[in-house]
Amino acid sequence: MIEFSQRLKTLPGYPLAEIPVLKRRLVEAGVDVIDLGAGDNDAAPPAVAVSAMTKALGDSAYSKYGFQQGLPAFRQAASRWVERRFGFHFDPVSELLPLIGSKEGLSHLPFAVVNPGDVTIVPEPGYQAYLGGSLLAGAEPYIAPLRPENDFLVELSQVPEPVLRRAKLVFVNYPNNPTAAVATAEYMQRTVALCRRYGILLAYDNAYCDLTYDGYRAPSIFEVPGAREVALEFFSLSKSFSMTGWRIGFVVGRPELIGALTRVKSYVDTGPFLAVQKAGAAALDRAEELVEPIRAELERRRDGAVAGLRQAGFTLESPKAAMYLWVALPADLPSAVFARRALEDTGTVVLPGSAFGPSGEGFFRIALTVGVERLREAAVRLGRTFEAAPRGALATTA
Ligand SMILES: Cc1ncc(COP(=O)(O)O)c(C=O)c1O
Repeated sequence: MIEFSQRLKTLPGYPLAEIPVLKRRLVEAGVDVIDLGAGDNDAAPPAVAVSAMTKALGDSAYSKYGFQQGLPAFRQAASRWVERRFGFHFDPVSELLPLIGSKEGLSHLPFAVVNPGDVTIVPEPGYQAYLGGSLLAGAEPYIAPLRPENDFLVELSQVPEPVLRRAKLVFVNYPNNPTAAVATAEYMQRTVALCRRYGILLAYDNAYCDLTYDGYRAPSIFEVPGAREVALEFFSLSKSFSMTGWRIGFVVGRPELIGALTRVKSYVDTGPFLAVQKAGAAALDRAEELVEPIRAELERRRDGAVAGLRQAGFTLESPKAAMYLWVALPADLPSAVFARRALEDTGTVVLPGSAFGPSGEGFFRIALTVGVERLREAAVRLGRTFEAAPRGALATTA
């Protein structure tokens, strides 16, 4: 008999794990499924990335181990992009590290700073890699609920002082998944100030910084003076360039912090595939021209989906960023019941808020992964589910 670790047992079920199975069953039964589950846009990756990758595959040098150093050209392109986008210089060799997707770096980070029993501050609802990485490293996650009354912000001033004293790491993600909330400069300043006061590493997850609407511009945490002392910022090519499956991202910060994560990663991986780094460099060098069509299409989708959902009877705000709609449900309709009914009765995949942790209850998430027409069709289907779903006591059985 193999006995599994306590750590493994503490991991809750991953929110997206069951959906592919349910979806395949419905598709096999002939159902026209609209999948708004995972944040995986249907757009193709950029042609420059595909051709750089194809070329690299023909050169055996790119088939070798990349190690943590990886491809200097990727580090340089990433550093140039940060400089163009935000105006800060990070040395490509000592202040930047390629990642096998930002999820990989975010989930490995706790191993660099946490001793068993230390606290990590984890937003809920939130990207599950923060919780998973914390639990696997033996940390005690302190759950910071993101609620509408807090503008979905992780407010460190509301965390009890003894917890702040034990905290080693906080995950902060704006534009946010799943709530699509954004953070103000004042919020970022007070968060950096508290991290500095308590010596907490601030992992700023900026995976959605390029997907912004209505003229909104997403800031970098390094716009706050003094942030370099305590922050690392994580970027991803997944959403900006529609390259989710390629697994490429990077992190920037001061050399000691980058060095600590590099050391952890040296023992668990050998860096992103060099051909993917070559393709990533090609995409980053043309980011401005490549991201704009993806961003503009998502803005159209947002507008279509918001209008459709409002027509279907839902109340929701039109988000300024990210690729999600976070839609409120009435208190007597649990989100898991709603999402299951939407899938089984209408073939529409949405994620229940409760899949992101108990504080996500009262909402469901739509990812803007398909075109406007399909999103409008999904809104009509969801409206039907909303009207037909059982309420109150009955609603507790999913
Ligand atoms: C908030 C957030 N951070 C990070 C990631 C991971 O992106 P990557 O594909 O770079 O691992 C995601 C993916 O959905 C995300 O939503």
